[in-house]
Amino acid sequence: MSVSKICCIGAGYVGGPTMAMIAHKCPNIDVKVVDINETRIAQWNSDTLPIYEPGLDEIVKGCRGKNLTFTTEIDAAIKEADMIFISVNTPTKTFGVGAGRAANLEYVEKCARRIAEVAEGHKIVVEKSTLPVRTAEAVKRILSNASNGSTFDVLSNPEFLAEGTAIEDLLDPDRVLIGGERKEAIQELVDVYAHWVPTDRILTTNLWSSELSKLTANAFLAQRVSSINAISALCEATEADVDEVAAAIGTDSRIGPKFLKASVGFGGSCFQKDILNLVYLCEYFGLPEVAQYWEQVVRMNDYQKERFVSRMVRTMFNTVSDKKIAIWGFAFKKDTNDTRESAAIYVVRDLLLEKARVCIYDPQVTKQQVIQELEYVLSEGDNGISPAKRELIDNHVTFASSCEEASSDAHAIAVLTEWDEFAEVDFGKIHDSMKKPAFVFDGRNRLKQKNLVDSGFEYHGIGF
Ligand code: NAD
Ligand code: UDX
Repeated sequence: MSVSKICCIGAGYVGGPTMAMIAHKCPNIDVKVVDINETRIAQWNSDTLPIYEPGLDEIVKGCRGKNLTFTTEIDAAIKEADMIFISVNTPTKTFGVGAGRAANLEYVEKCARRIAEVAEGHKIVVEKSTLPVRTAEAVKRILSNASNGSTFDVLSNPEFLAEGTAIEDLLDPDRVLIGGERKEAIQELVDVYAHWVPTDRILTTNLWSSELSKLTANAFLAQRVSSINAISALCEATEADVDEVAAAIGTDSRIGPKFLKASVGFGGSCFQKDILNLVYLCEYFGLPEVAQYWEQVVRMNDYQKERFVSRMVRTMFNTVSDKKIAIWGFAFKKDTNDTRESAAIYVVRDLLLEKARVCIYDPQVTKQQVIQELEYVLSEGDNGISPAKRELIDNHVTFASSCEEASSDAHAIAVLTEWDEFAEVDFGKIHDSMKKPAFVFDGRNRLKQKNLVDSGFEYHGIGF
């Protein structure tokens, strides 16, 4: 049997692009992406997709209405599919046992239960969401109680795409990982990817190795960023330059040059959540030393964000109160509209708590999204947001539609996302429009220090 109908539950940053790529590369497979969020599905069916990702529009528009459908008709899509991907969110739990660490598996479990209830015949269920090792055991148990006597194979196929480069990553992945038990079921999924991925890059493992490899890959990547960020603090104390140190160590082929860019701190929906989940698992399995080892990667990241704001305050004569600060970039990295766990949220929060006035410009992030993030981070648990903090959002946060507008009359610029357009502005003109001394705090080290200094700025990068 070869797969002819795929259903993917979850039309998010992973479900949308991965299924669009399968539809694009496998014209003989009918792909339905389903979600409970009607607004999101409507956006996937509109001219403005819910996700900004270079190259995504073309692929979606090329297949939509042919072999790619976005719909809220979840049960019908489950019924007719041979293969069902679960690609729902698995955020950090905010309540109960494991709060602040463990993954919230409520949505995954609900999908498994829905599949068990409506499926007919044999289905291959694929875990695409990032899950703690041994989740497939629970999924299998739930599916074993199927209402219609259906049978199932469960595979783990974690996704390694990074936002901002999702299409490139999907087109030409370093590897595709498939974990499973029955080799015929594994082969069905190998055959889907083999439409465009060379078979030597399709790795097959047991279920548990596949589930654990995803958390481990993210922990290793984040660990590199925290390691170089730790060194950036030492560079600032010693006149070493972290970019020079990174270049020097990166030439060692055992270390390699990638993922050594010092920054204001890593963000995104994955790194922190997945490391915390790994920490929780280690504690659960009675390995406290291993848990502490990985937890330090997250602690270092928190320190890096706090350090950035303290340095700003210290440099600007120990006060930013009532000073206008231009915030360049709010997304957690360039080429995405995603703000989940963005370092910008924490930097802006801490600047607001210092009573600064921030003016935010990001080419892809909406005003409502920024306000939602700030409301969340300034809230105090179930008590919600206090009147004093609400006042900070209402009266100390404004929005601009360009770098120039954000910076006019400002005391400082804080660069929090490395959008390419930020390096292309007329710094002389911007300097003229600012209060003096005009400071730049480059949280991404992407602006040319010399150009800025020549334009009259006092420039502070990370790690020098
Ligand atoms: P997301 O929040 O963008 O999308 C998840 C979608 O699932 C939402 O639209 C939500 O409405 C939907 N959903 C939740 N419960 C549902 C249900 N019961 N039925 C139907 N739809 C339901 O999340 P995402 O960023 O796409 O991440 C999905 C998974 O992939 C997570 O486990 C994440 O860790 C993993 N992952 C994410 C990335 C990334 O870069 N974002 C990369 C690799 C892996
Ligand atoms: C990450 C993994 O890279 C990807 O494989 C996985 O599937 C999902 O999680 P993502 O979070 O989308 O992808 O982006 P990534 O490029 O990894 O960047 C994460 C954060 O680290 C960003 O805030 C980025 O700015 C920061 N980063 C990355 C650095 O600060 N320095 C670096 O050298 C690299």
